[in-house]
Amino acid sequence: MAYRWILLLTVALHMVKSNEDKPVNDVIPHIYEPSWMYKCVPDQGCERTEHPHPLVMGNITAQMFGSLDVCRTVCGRFGGLWPRPVTAALSSQTVRIHPNYLRFDLVDVPAESRDLLVQMTKLVGDNLLAECGGNVTEIVETPIVVYISVKTAVTSLVWDTDEHYMLDVQTKEEEIAVHVVADTVFGARHAFETFTQLASPERLDDGEGNRCGLRLVSGAKIRDRPVYKHRGFVMDSSRHFIPMADIKRTIDGLAATKMNVFHWHVTDSHSFPLESSRVPQFTRYGAYSAKEIYTTEEVRELIEYAKVRGVRVVIEIDAPAHAGNGWQWGKEYGFGDLAVCVNVYPWRPYCIEPPCGQLNPANPAMYRVLRDLYRDIAETMTKPPLLHMGGDEVFLNCWNSSEEIVTYMKNKGWDTTDEGFLKLWGEFHEKALQIWDEEVHAAGAGDPQPVMLWSSELTQPQRIQRFLDKNRYIIEVWEVITSPLLSQLLRLGYRVVSVPKDIWYLDHGTWGVTKYSNWRRMYSHKLPTEDGVIGGEVAMWTEYCDSQVLDTRVWPRTAAVGERLWANPNTDVYSAEPRLQRHRARLIARGIKPDAMAPAWCEQHESRCY
Ligand SMILES: *[C@@H]1O[C@H](CO)[C@@H](O)[C@H](O)[C@H]1NC(C)=O
Ligand SMILES: *[C@@H]1O[C@H](CO)[C@@H](O)[C@H](O)[C@H]1NC(C)=O
Ligand SMILES: *[C@@H]1O[C@H](CO)[C@@H](O)[C@H](O)[C@H]1NC(C)=O
Repeated sequence: MAYRWILLLTVALHMVKSNEDKPVNDVIPHIYEPSWMYKCVPDQGCERTEHPHPLVMGNITAQMFGSLDVCRTVCGRFGGLWPRPVTAALSSQTVRIHPNYLRFDLVDVPAESRDLLVQMTKLVGDNLLAECGGNVTEIVETPIVVYISVKTAVTSLVWDTDEHYMLDVQTKEEEIAVHVVADTVFGARHAFETFTQLASPERLDDGEGNRCGLRLVSGAKIRDRPVYKHRGFVMDSSRHFIPMADIKRTIDGLAATKMNVFHWHVTDSHSFPLESSRVPQFTRYGAYSAKEIYTTEEVRELIEYAKVRGVRVVIEIDAPAHAGNGWQWGKEYGFGDLAVCVNVYPWRPYCIEPPCGQLNPANPAMYRVLRDLYRDIAETMTKPPLLHMGGDEVFLNCWNSSEEIVTYMKNKGWDTTDEGFLKLWGEFHEKALQIWDEEVHAAGAGDPQPVMLWSSELTQPQRIQRFLDKNRYIIEVWEVITSPLLSQLLRLGYRVVSVPKDIWYLDHGTWGVTKYSNWRRMYSHKLPTEDGVIGGEVAMWTEYCDSQVLDTRVWPRTAAVGERLWANPNTDVYSAEPRLQRHRARLIARGIKPDAMAPAWCEQHESRCY
């Protein structure tokens, strides 16, 4: 091979020499369309070869690959898998496949979970096709048969859902046999995702058009399970409305990354885009426009969409603070003030960020309206529904500025010190939780489940036990990593989800004095592994983010956190980078526009830019 290159180059150089006065293109028409080969260098990753290969279909030896994607899919212990599995033995050989010849054999699957499983299988072919932009032109007729065994009849995703799976791929004479064994359909879905990640595109530009083939790792044995049960992503759709199509695309990315929670911070003081059939005023007074609304039908469809992708939707109705627009119609309808300080100006004395607004806990009508909203949510979500009740950043001075609230407190015998307001705040959560339990029950959506709540003044270790029952609240701690709160709450026996704002907030670096975290920093942060830590989330607050820039803010950084939460590996960022590059290419194939990670030359020469 080397000899051939030398020969060709010599010929080329000779031609250039004897045609000095002609444009180079006329002389050697194809030499400026190099088709590089890639070699897998042990412990270093894929590297571009020294010379462009003039013969596209040429001589591919065991460790030489015609495409960077294929090289990455084979090279290294975990190939192109993201997140990395617990154990994987991968062949370094590949076989051509075509998604048209993919079949699923439900060997042993409980009747109750068949429908869901079938929907999950449909995505496998779609995702494989996407690798070639929807057209796999290189036809091979080898059947690929996926034999599936699922043990239990689980059809909803909760914290206890078993997500482990086993995946075996064997290339035989007559077929490629893929065996998937899992406890639940959610585990099986992860196996499907891993299976699609064993395939990669091989673009064959022969000068006649865009030909593309798919190559699959010819043999694999994978055993896998997540380290954390709660692997979430927070999306704020109140500071900016995020269209449904963007949300779905984001969920596609979560599914590709085996993340399992879409925490939807759907309302805030800025806007209320979530339709409530019992309280249409919320969107009528709270949406940015008639088009910027999530209808109940759309929400229901999204929840199903997410479920088929192994993702649980957790709706957050932030309260009692972070509530304003959407709640400002009470007086007009004879209900009094449902919220106070709504949109006051100047805002600084009354809230952390404009526009202000906090629910009015002195007004019983507020609780009636909240009850209707909770009922709508309990009916819309899959059973058992998990609600995030917000609970952060109550600004005492806002409540203190309301005569109605101060009078209510006096009647209760509470003074207007911090202590008095904390009682009022605690009472709000007690009542809200009771209402939620009653409405979940009334909606026939099962027994009371824990709810989630952000950390706040109320969750400080010296007072949390007075206000919040550790069996009912999972505390989402968003303090900086140096804060002792997380370990203090664990010591008190609380279960926590961790979102350290100085590391896992995707909006940091776009406002104020906050610092941007790149994927390496996000990836390198480890959570405590104590039992009470049920997982973590990465958060996209949208004050400075909308549909236009969403993908680049979110990806690939969210994927970095995804591997941290799935595998919690000891590997450094350097050995992770080639796999994340492959994952990034995969996200692009599925329609996402992730941020760039390195200069293209460095992508083609892994480990040469470290
Ligand atoms: C591939 O390389 C081998 C050995 O270098 C050579 O014998 C063979 O002819 C080559 N095949 C093609 C298609 O170039
Ligand atoms: C796929 O590509 C081939 C070859 O370029 C072309 O003939 C065919 O029409 C394409 N099919 C679709 C569905 O785009
Ligand atoms: C509430 O307002 C009263 C009267 O202005 C003041 O004395 C009190 O300190 C305030 N309470 C808080 C918690 O700010």
